[in-house]
Amino acid sequence: MISNRLQAIAAFIPPAKRIVDVGCDHGYIIIEAFQKYQIESAVALDNKAGPLSKAFNNIRGYGFFDRVNFVLSEGLEQFYAQADAFILSGMGGLNIINIINNGLDKLGQARLIIQANRHAFEVRTYLTNQGYYLVNEELIFEGGKYYEIELFEKTEEPVFYHEDELYFGPLLLARKSEIFMNKLRHDLRILKAISHPMPKHLKTIKRIEEILC
Ligand SMILES: C[S@@+](CC[C@H](N)C(=O)[O-])C[C@H]1O[C@@H](n2cnc3c(N)ncnc32)[C@H](O)[C@@H]1O
Repeated sequence: MISNRLQAIAAFIPPAKRIVDVGCDHGYIIIEAFQKYQIESAVALDNKAGPLSKAFNNIRGYGFFDRVNFVLSEGLEQFYAQADAFILSGMGGLNIINIINNGLDKLGQARLIIQANRHAFEVRTYLTNQGYYLVNEELIFEGGKYYEIELFEKTEEPVFYHEDELYFGPLLLARKSEIFMNKLRHDLRILKAISHPMPKHLKTIKRIEEILC
């Protein structure tokens, strides 16, 4: 059984049938995608041989093994196929932005499934500036950490988000689910424990308090 985080990431794959897992490491997302979402093919891509061979070894026992390409690549540099969904998860947001920015011409109309460990605001800002909008968002709490999982798609009609939406996630902010409110309380505790808060910390404290009250 794979983690709730990985299951939630894979749940954003349909209706995509050809997926690329950028930074695949263990390859579990690809296994989940074949088993649960009947994808046709996958690319397991990583920039390090160790993680890529981990994915290779984890996937090779399955019947769909011959429908997976294993690609050693820095970002999308060595990716030349076409796909309906790119998954970039478990990496820092700035790294994710860098990978996407260097591979923009390879993305076509594919959906992007993103779970950035940090800098989600920067990722949302960057992608909306590139003509994407947020189709769905999911917040997962696992192992004492919160994970924001985001589904972006290309749009012809630009969608504008205000700063709070980019900061907290527009759909998460609108839904105000229990887990989202718990995350805000958690973030607020951390921010209030900073002994010499900077103006950006004070601004975030104010924003969170406004949402919570
Ligand atoms: C922490 S793992 C996350 C694995 C999986 N995506 C997940 O969500 O559990 C990050 C993986 O991304 C790979 N990675 C980091 N930067 C990369 C880049 N620029 N291009 C390709 N792979 C990268 C790392 O080698 C590592 O295997």
